[in-house]
Amino acid sequence: MRSATTDTLSRSERIGAVVLCAGKGERTGLEYNKVLYVLGQKTVLETTLDVFARTEVERIVLVISRDDEKAISPLVKPYRNVKTVYGGATRTESVRLGLKALSGCDIVVIHDGARPFVTADTIAASIESAQRFGSGIAAVPTVDTIKQVKDGAIVRSLDRSILYNIQTPQTFRYAEILEAYETASGVYTDDSELYEKAGYVPHIVRGAYDNIKLTTPADLIKAPTGVRIGVGYDLHRLVNDRPLILGGIIIPHSKGLLGHSDADVLVHAVMDAMLSAANLPDIGVLFPDTDGSLEGISSMELLRRVTELIKFHGYSVGNISAVITAQEPKLAPYIGGICESLANAIGIAVYNVNVSATTAEHLGKIGKGKAIAASASCLLTENHDRQTDR
Ligand code: CTP
Ligand code: MG
Repeated sequence: MRSATTDTLSRSERIGAVVLCAGKGERTGLEYNKVLYVLGQKTVLETTLDVFARTEVERIVLVISRDDEKAISPLVKPYRNVKTVYGGATRTESVRLGLKALSGCDIVVIHDGARPFVTADTIAASIESAQRFGSGIAAVPTVDTIKQVKDGAIVRSLDRSILYNIQTPQTFRYAEILEAYETASGVYTDDSELYEKAGYVPHIVRGAYDNIKLTTPADLIKAPTGVRIGVGYDLHRLVNDRPLILGGIIIPHSKGLLGHSDADVLVHAVMDAMLSAANLPDIGVLFPDTDGSLEGISSMELLRRVTELIKFHGYSVGNISAVITAQEPKLAPYIGGICESLANAIGIAVYNVNVSATTAEHLGKIGKGKAIAASASCLLTENHDRQTDR
């Protein structure tokens, strides 16, 4: 067995990384490489590179496939220390090609581009371990019970207390892992196995359960999306001879709200909250009262249009929370129906709509029964298939 270099720590060591992106991501079921999948505001690939930017890694070889070059090149351009090279047919081949392209390093961090939730701390721990012991392999204790199965039957139960799930980063002394890759034959799913076959003892460092490799459609669903908050507010005068409509529900009252449309003040506040969360123009801009075609239009129809617009821009409504300020009538008996009506128009569960009502304590115009106001907040989530415009 070879003993890995155990030099004293050297602050001047040059640290490089090989970040692997040359796969196809077939198991995700996406029609494109999973490293181009958008997480909130940026792709998996950019998310991963941004973590590396907060580490001691000086230069990165990004291993990509020819098929993705057009999509990846513009994303990588802002990262000055990243050079791209083509990968091979297997991960093993891609690592080999990446290592060859990364000359002049003492330590190399090998990382799957499809693990964007890695932290700078995990990368730092793996580098430190490689400097001390020759290698630092991110790993977490296995939480599931693991069995060996043959022809549908369990043939062996493994002792979970000694098992670990192996992740990346996997960090090594550059010369040692390069030599191991240059002399090895066969295909390996991780670097530590090949390093072990070369006669070294791989050392583990504490990884993180969050540091998942995006592999299956379920992983994509688990990945956090961006959430955005928005607020909206509206007020309308109460006048005689108009129906009072709140949240699309007609409320029996001696007066109704005055406006160009049906003056549904609650729906107006809700729409503005949705539009504000999506950073889109408000209803005054989208549905101006100079537009004759909108005269007397049901605000519920406008709410359906706003919902479509929000979807078009790649968002889903998470939840809506609203408050109506009205001195009268008493709204409590109608709140359930209002929530249902809003939820149906937006296409979300009633559970995700909350409306409350309050009075103005007889103060001001609202308190004198001359107006009703509503304010709303909305949480939007960015859809997984949302593409950035970059
Ligand atoms: N990888 C690579 N070159 C290959 C195969 C994989 O650089 N020929 C990279 C992937 O881009 C990924 C990492 O190795 O970041 C881990 O591999 P895996 O999760 O298997 O990714 P894919 O091969 O892309 O996915 P799939 O096997 O589902 O097609
Ligand atoms: Mg693969």
